[in-house]
Formats: sequence, C-alpha cells, structure tokens
Amino acid sequence: MIASLPFIPQQTSSRAHAAPAATTTARPRLIVVGFDEIVVNKYLPTIRSAIEEGRLDSYAVIDLASQRQIIEARLAAAAHRPHAVAYVPDAAAFDPALQQRAIDEAVRAVSDRGRPVMMYIATEVRAHLPYLQYCAENAIAALVEKPVLAPLESGTFAPADITGHMRSLADRFGGSGCSVMTLSRYHRIYNDRFVTGIRDRMHRWQTPLTSLHLRAAGGVWNTQTEFASRTDHPYRYGYGMLMHGAYHYIDLAMQVLALNADLLPEARLALDVTAYSVGPADQHRRVTGPHAAAIGDRGPRLPAHPDGGHYGETDVTAVFRLYDSDTHHTITLGTLAFEQTTPSIRTWPRLPEGLYNKNGRTSAVDVEAQIGPLYSAHVHCYDVPSGEDADRIDAFARLTERANAALIPDESYVESEDFSGVFHSDSNRALMERWLAGIETRSSLASHALPMRVTEALCLAAASPGTSLTVTDFAPERRATRLLACRRADAKLVAP
Ligand SMILES: NC(=O)c1ccc[n+]([C@@H]2O[C@H](COP(=O)([O-])OP(=O)(O)OC[C@H]3O[C@@H](n4cnc5c(N)ncnc54)[C@H](O)[C@@H]3O)[C@@H](O)[C@H]2O)c1
Repeated sequence: MIASLPFIPQQTSSRAHAAPAATTTARPRLIVVGFDEIVVNKYLPTIRSAIEEGRLDSYAVIDLASQRQIIEARLAAAAHRPHAVAYVPDAAAFDPALQQRAIDEAVRAVSDRGRPVMMYIATEVRAHLPYLQYCAENAIAALVEKPVLAPLESGTFAPADITGHMRSLADRFGGSGCSVMTLSRYHRIYNDRFVTGIRDRMHRWQTPLTSLHLRAAGGVWNTQTEFASRTDHPYRYGYGMLMHGAYHYIDLAMQVLALNADLLPEARLALDVTAYSVGPADQHRRVTGPHAAAIGDRGPRLPAHPDGGHYGETDVTAVFRLYDSDTHHTITLGTLAFEQTTPSIRTWPRLPEGLYNKNGRTSAVDVEAQIGPLYSAHVHCYDVPSGEDADRIDAFARLTERANAALIPDESYVESEDFSGVFHSDSNRALMERWLAGIETRSSLASHALPMRVTEALCLAAASPGTSLTVTDFAPERRATRLLACRRADAKLVAP
C-alpha cells in the first residue's frame, strides 16, 4: 500500500492505480523524481540533515530508464545513498495513456507498506504535470520545481492550457498540499528587503505602485546545434527562456504588482501585455565573428527541427500596463525583459561532462519599482565569476532607494546598501527545509496561479508579436481577502 503524507485533498476522485492514503505516524520517505547534478549539489545535504534529525526516514529516487547508467554513476559518487531507485520506461513516461500506471509502479517499487511518502519533482519541466496529477490524486505532499508545469498537446508545448491545469491542481491540492521551488519566496534581498520595503511604504502612504521595470539576463550561450540536441534546459520542445530562468523573475514581478490588489481592493484589475522575442533561428545573425567561431558556432548551423516543430525563444521583452478594468484608468506601467543572449563565460565548443554551468551562464538582474513621485527601490544583482571554475561563481547585489526626503522626513534622498556573497541557493534551501519540516507557507501551488497565468500570457504574446493579451481579474484572491478585511474594519467602525 502507498501511504501518503496526510494533506486533505480538496476533491476526491476514483484512484486509478494507487491504494488509498493511510493515516500513519511513521516518518515519511522522500521520493526525488529526477536526480540531476542540481539535486546532488544543492539539496542532498538538506535531505541528509532531515534524515539525521529524524524528520525523514530515508529518500528514494525515480528517473528515466534511458538515464540508468548516468544516475548509477551519480549515486555512486553521492554523499548519501538512497533507500531505493526505480526507473520509468521512457516510452511510458511520455505517453499520456501509460504514464499514470508507469509512475504508480515506480512509486510502489520505492515505497514501504504503511510508510508515508512525499515527492520532490525535479524533472525537466514537461514531465512535471503527470507527477503532479499523481500526487494530487493520491494525496501525496509534493514539492515541484519552477516553473510548475509545461502542458503538452500531442507532444507539443501548449501554453494556453497552463491556467486550466493550474486551477485543477490547486483545487485538488488545496492550500498546503503542494509547494513550488523558486528563488524569490525566501530571498533575503528580493523578499525581505525589496518587496517588504515597497509594500510597507505603499500602505503607509496609501499610494499604489506606479511603475516596475525588471530585466533578467541569463548569460546562457548555447551553440545552434545544442538547441536541437539538449534535453536539459531544452529549446526543441517549443519553449525556452520563459519556461527556464525567467520564471523566478516573473514570480518576483507579480509579487510586487499584486501589492496594488491589496491597496485597491475595490478595483477589478487587469493586465495587458505585448511581447517580442528572438530565438535560435536568428542566432547566427546576432552572434557573429571570431568569438562565435571559437566555440564552433559561426554561420547558420541550426538543424531543422527534429520533429518539424519550432524552437523555443532565447530572449523576450514585454511591455505591460495594470489598470482598473471598469474605469480603464492605468495604475502601473512597466517592462519585463528576459534575455539569455547576454555576457557569458563560455569558451568551450563542446558541453563538458560533470559541470553544472555547462554553457557558461552568468546572470544579472536589474529591477526598479516606483511609488510615484515618492519613492523608488532598485536592485542590481549580478554574478561575479572567479575565472577558474565555471561552477564557482560569487554574486553581488546593491539595493538603492531614492525618496522625496523633503516631503517625507523619515526617508533619505538616496540610500544604498551592498551585499556580497549572495548565494541564491540559500533561499532555495530555506524553502526545501521548511517543506520537509511541513511548515512551508510562502510558495503554495495556489500562490503560483498568478505568475503562471502571466507566464501563459507572455508565451502567447511572444508567439504573436505586437498583439496585446489581457490577464483579466488580476490577483482575485488578494482582492477578495482585502475586501473582506476592509469590510470587517468598516463594520467595526460603524459598530456602537
Ligand atoms: N530552482 C532553481 O533554482 C532551478 C535551477 C535549475 C533548474 N531548475 C528546475 O529543475 C528542473 C530540472 O531541470 P533540468 O533542465 O536540469 O532537467 P533535466 O533535463 O536535467 O532533468 C532532470 C532529471 O529528470 C529526469 N527525468 C526527465 N524526465 C523524467 C520523467 N518523466 N520521469 C523521471 N525522471 C525524469 C532526467 O533523466 C534527469 O535526471 C526544471 O523544472 C528546472 O526549471 C530549478
């Protein structure tokens, strides 16, 4: 019998394969689905501590049958060995008719009778959805890597289905059944300083956010042939930057924009976005000269798409406005840019074995939010490579705040603070630790409904350049909570 960590599913349906959940006090086993270098390097120490501290019994691994040799080698070198490993046949893993049974068999193979299981889903994003559906169906507590899911239709990326799947999963998981692993929920600069500082001032001054400009540079350099061959951070499944690194920052941008829904609960907000993108087909015209030749990538070399489909984008720039959909008054204007074609440290023609930073990624983020003529907060955060080891990259951040200090005496005209040694993985580990302890509250799947709706809109907008797409009823849950709070406060005011 598969026992699951007892979160209460919101909707029960007939369980096709797995036995019903058992209520048990036994320590849970963590099933890690997708055992790549990032799990070994970033999370295995956290998983090991949870086992040593008695919060977990053990961990197990599920991966693809085709990857068995690689996984065995990775496991042999791992500091802590799993209790069990199961491999899913590749054909079954990606066949909608077979995948739930294949997942069920793998879960049973790594489970003990009566011992609850939790699942950390860390596969490439197109494989997330069937595992999420399995967990929702079998009341298994789940943690899924960003960007929650990439729906497929006949094997092709179908971004228009994102919102529907998110709704259905959120209904079944409820508020606490599933968390999402992403950068900006426990981040000491983005969350503890940037978002919090803006929110406090908006409420104190009763003034909305008037503009937001965010630019995330990935510094990823793939050769044209790698767009066709890569299966991790792939482009050949029809998605690219928006479903890779961009999601961390779409999530951050939406946390800031949604502050307006708290401040203006009576307004029915909507977001219009227009986007332009560029992709692998244009790379040989944009990245030219001796340096492209040095990594073997000069001239047109992009292979025809292996399945006759299209490659995902490398860079996207979007313009948006947030407005009151009843009055059409605009509240916030802004831009979002997610670019991979930015400075990288790649010097090598072939992807090296055993290196996580295979394509020389160096990221840089620039985000500025303004509260009208009163205040702005700006974060500039960038990687500082050491030059020797591509996997050893430090990071630097500067937070600059500017304010109308003459009007608001407790503010300064300009204040700036530097942070070095910013390890983004600290915030990821904090999320993982809390989830393993059953106290993760900041990154529920339901709280990712808005950034995923905006991701869907950006994917669709980028696919039809210059067309404006609307996200209607922006942050409705925030609005509902605030309206309730305001009505309670009003009721207290009029009470005798
Ligand atoms: N939170 C972060 O900072 C961060 C950083 C990097 C990647 N990610 C996310 O982690 C996930 C993995 O990324 P990746 O591109 O490195 O993945 P990947 O392609 O390297 O796949 C990871 C592992 O999953 C296995 N796998 C793939 N399909 C499977 C299936 N159907 N069943 C079982 N195992 C399967 C692969 O064999 C591999 O071992 C993605 O969602 C990505 O967005 C998050």
